[in-house]
This record gives sequence, C-alpha cells and structure tokens, in this order.
Amino acid sequence: MNSQNFYHATKVVSGAGTIQLVGKEALEIGAKKVLIITDSFLAKSDAMKKIIKSLEASDIDYAVYKDVRPNPRDEDCGLSTQLAKKEKVDAIIGLGGGSSMDQCKATAALVTNGGTCRDWDGKALKEVMLPVICIPTTSGTGSEVTFVAVITDSERKYKMSIFDPVRLIPKVAITDPEITLSLPPSLTASTGIDALTHAIEAYTCKAAQPITDAIALYAIEQINKNVQKAVEKGYDLKARASMMNASTMAGIAFINSNVGAVHAISETIGAWYDTPHGVCNSIFLPHIFKYNIPADVEKHAMVASKMGVDPIGKTKMEIAEEGVSVIKELCNAVKIPKLKELKYIKQENFFTIAQTSAANLLSQDNARDIDTDGYLEVLCSAFQED
Ligand SMILES: [Fe+2]
Repeated sequence: MNSQNFYHATKVVSGAGTIQLVGKEALEIGAKKVLIITDSFLAKSDAMKKIIKSLEASDIDYAVYKDVRPNPRDEDCGLSTQLAKKEKVDAIIGLGGGSSMDQCKATAALVTNGGTCRDWDGKALKEVMLPVICIPTTSGTGSEVTFVAVITDSERKYKMSIFDPVRLIPKVAITDPEITLSLPPSLTASTGIDALTHAIEAYTCKAAQPITDAIALYAIEQINKNVQKAVEKGYDLKARASMMNASTMAGIAFINSNVGAVHAISETIGAWYDTPHGVCNSIFLPHIFKYNIPADVEKHAMVASKMGVDPIGKTKMEIAEEGVSVIKELCNAVKIPKLKELKYIKQENFFTIAQTSAANLLSQDNARDIDTDGYLEVLCSAFQED
C-alpha cells in the first residue's frame, strides 16, 4: 500500500500586531513561566519588548536565553536545556529565524526526553516536548510550523535532525509581518529564497503529494510576486505579510513532503563553513532546478509558469528551461552572492562536498537521482556563474 501522511497541528496566529497576543496564547497553553530563546541582537529588539509587555500583562513569569548562534549547535542546546530546567519553565518561546526556533524545539524536546541532541538524531522522541510558541522574525525557514529541529553536531561537523510529527509540533506560531519590517535587504533576500526553495523542492521532490502540491504552488507564486518588493521596499507591509504567509505555507508543504538536493548541499556547506542556510540555498537553487528538469518536465514547467514564464507557443521543456533563467534573474535582482564570491569554498573541496551531499538522506527524495557526479556537475555549474 502506498500511503501518505499530512500533519498540521500548529495554531497559526497571523497578522500585523499579533506579537502582542503572545501572553494570551501562552495562558491558553497553560504556561505559568516561559523561557524565551533568542539571540543577543533580538534580545534588545522592539519585538522582545512587546513579548515581555504581553507576558507581564498576562501575569506570566519568564527567563531569557539570548545566546543563539547561526546554524545552532548541540552544545548550545545543552545550555538552554539546563537553563529551562533550572528555571522550571513550563513552556518555551522561540523568537528569531530558523536558528532560534530550531534551538527552541530541540530544548523543549530535551527537557522532557533527557539526553543530548545526538541521542535523538534521526529517532522518534519518547515524550511530547514542552509546549512551544514560535515567533519568526524572518520570512524564510517555516520552522514555526515544522516538526523538525536541525542542529549542528560541532564535533562531527554534521547537521543532525530531530524529527517527530507527533511530539515535536509547536503549539502556536505567531506570524506577525510587522516584526520583519526592519529586516535588512540581504537577510530578506536570502531567507525569502530559502522559502522559495522549500516550496519548489516540496513540489518537485519524490515525496510530493497532492495536498502539499497545492500549498507549495501558491507559496511559489506569492514569493515570486513579493520577495523583490520586500527586499527593495522593506517598509511595504503588504509585501512583508505575503512573504510571511508564503514562508509558513512553504514550511507546511515541505515538512509533509520533503526537500531535496538544494538542502542536502546547503547542509554540508553550512555545517563545514557556517555559511548562512538561505545564502547556500539561493546559490544552488537554479542549478539544481536545471539538473532536475529531466526527472519531471511537467512539474518544472508548472513552477516556471507560476514564476511568470509565458507558456504560450512553447513546449513544456522550453517553459521549464526558461524557469532556470527566471530563478537566476530573481536571485540576481535580490543580490544573492555567487559561489565564487565565497572565497573560503575552494574548488579542491568540491569532491568532498559532493560526496557528503550525496550521502545525505535528503538526496534520496530529490526529484532526480543524484550522486557524487551529479553534485559535482551542479557545483561546477554554480562556480561558472559570474
Ligand atoms: Fe531551508
């Protein structure tokens, strides 16, 4: 029997100003004392002030962990877990991008399950994690609605995944586009293309299903229409709101389908060089899209048409191939750096990057079968970009 599952249990509270509802939402999930997990920059932000004001108004006590780093590490999750236990919190709030929210979910899981991230890498949890409220500050990762926490094993330089569709689900996601108004253009761009990657990979990969297809296609269309606006006119609340909704939808799509080769290579490069996840994805998305076309010309043509390629008078193959140019143009328009500009990634390391990415489980669901040679082809093609 070929069965497919679709999970979505997170309450999504969306709209401008909704961050002020965090106290009310925390009360509703029964919290008396929460741990807010964030980074040192956001700890001083307006968003943080609003969260604290709202918690105080609801009479909820709180503690703060403000040392989240990009590509969150296992040892940091150990520290935030110790703090959560010491402070005896009964819920956790993750404020930030994917790093803060993933560390928040990993911490909530370690509090109830014990052990370290390594103990739960690739295994189902035993206990439901502490209740979690996620508040994204970027429109990118979709981590607020996903049941995975991607944590770097610093010793092995490897990205681990704690994944559990039943025990690792955030109770609430507060998606307030106002928080993203001050996000700088470069971060808006890379996180926005990360969301586009989620939607495209969810739609084209081998694990796709009709429900995720519909959600992913809508997200692709919305991101394509709004990402450049959000980058160039950061104050455009309508564009920011569309991006926030689309990135949440892309999260719902990919967690119930999968991502593929773009994420596999990004995980390798992110774990080794600490390159931001969104930047890696944006660099490789057009090249892997091109590589994948022969696996499903129709679906790649559909992505291209959602991204504005005029299909009239063209074959599906022509439409799909034009999609590669449209993705490249979009990445250029929002000023994504080129692989060559990341000087620390040397050509002599391409083979090991390719080999490690091919061994990543995400490669198995990529739209087209991909091995070390396939990744080398993609790396060389990205490296030739000027
Ligand atoms: Fe991603």
